Amino acid sequence: MLAAPASDTVPFRFEPSAAPVAASERAARLVDPGFGRVFTDHMAVVRWNEAQGWHDAAITARAPLTMDPSSAVLHYAQEIFEGLKAYRLADGGIALFRPEANARRFQDSARRLAMPELPEAIFLSSIRELVRIERDWIPDGDGGALYLRPFMIASEAFLGVKPSAEYLYMVIASSVGAYWKGGARAVSIWVARDYTRAAPGGTGAAKCGGNYAASLVAQAEAIRQGCDQVVFLDAAERRWVEELGGMNVFFVFDDGTLLTPPLTGTILPGITRDSLLTLARARGLTVAEAPYSIEQWRADAASGRLTEAFACGTAAVVTPIGSVVDGTDRFTIGSGATGQLTQSLNDALVAIQRGHAPDPHGWLHPLA
Ligand code: PLP
Ligand code: COI
Repeated sequence: MLAAPASDTVPFRFEPSAAPVAASERAARLVDPGFGRVFTDHMAVVRWNEAQGWHDAAITARAPLTMDPSSAVLHYAQEIFEGLKAYRLADGGIALFRPEANARRFQDSARRLAMPELPEAIFLSSIRELVRIERDWIPDGDGGALYLRPFMIASEAFLGVKPSAEYLYMVIASSVGAYWKGGARAVSIWVARDYTRAAPGGTGAAKCGGNYAASLVAQAEAIRQGCDQVVFLDAAERRWVEELGGMNVFFVFDDGTLLTPPLTGTILPGITRDSLLTLARARGLTVAEAPYSIEQWRADAASGRLTEAFACGTAAVVTPIGSVVDGTDRFTIGSGATGQLTQSLNDALVAIQRGHAPDPHGWLHPLA
């Protein structure tokens, strides 16, 4: 579908910002950046249309977009995105973590949303170029990183319901601190019984904005119920645990085995999930990718067979799950605090990401 006629690479024109943030102001913003509020001076932009394919690639000053109000994305949500981080390494260098995996997932998402597939080389160079220019925006602090947000929107001005004939691919960058202030504490999870996130045949495996729009009311209800996060069950049987609004989920049992729901098309194939599977298997642990029901979760928590549970994603890496609220029922996992294996898998992954440990799987993509 929509094969791009242009070549797989495009040169990026650099148009420096005429008014970059002053170094002193930038330092102030990097002290406690939080997540997703501090943005850098520039952005990457590449356009696509049928006649020219991918063209007009540039790194320009970050600025508001001017769009026709009939732009397809504003009406039919033809939009996809990615999320990955650039880290400052122990040796002072800078590296991206598995950006090729994000590039491939972006292509998978594009296919599902009837959008043109961005060649991996353009995805990678857009990010490399932007990070090189914005390297001073990577915070030094514990957990600090430059969060990259590549995304693509349907930009054709047309109200007919069909795939857009024009697209805008962009990358913005946000300086972020540790996702959970003061370190990851075990979170509480609310089980969505009336809301689902994704159905078989739907867009659950794609990283499209619409999935997040559909999750917001359930996440808001989780907060209202006194919980931190929502967990979704499958849409067909309302029984099998799928994932959180923005993270995959793992279970740890008293025999030392792990389990995570399988990639059957309704959950996002997380890159953190895949990395943790690899790390666990390299340790000789048994990891099943198998369905796990909410009833079994409750029973295993009660019997003590389930000792730990955690969520994982790029933004927060590993987040321990301490307790679960399901209607009027509430249950605790293990002691309700961060489990040992949860902590050790988190530490092992973070050590690789930050260059504190060897990188046996070749996950780091260093920037010269
Ligand atoms: N599941 C959903 C719905 C997400 O939004 C994310 C985060 O990006 C993940 C899982 C974890 O994916 P990754 O580890 O690639 O960040
Ligand atoms: C994650 O990286 O874990 C996310 O869920 C990204 C989120 C901000 C959409």
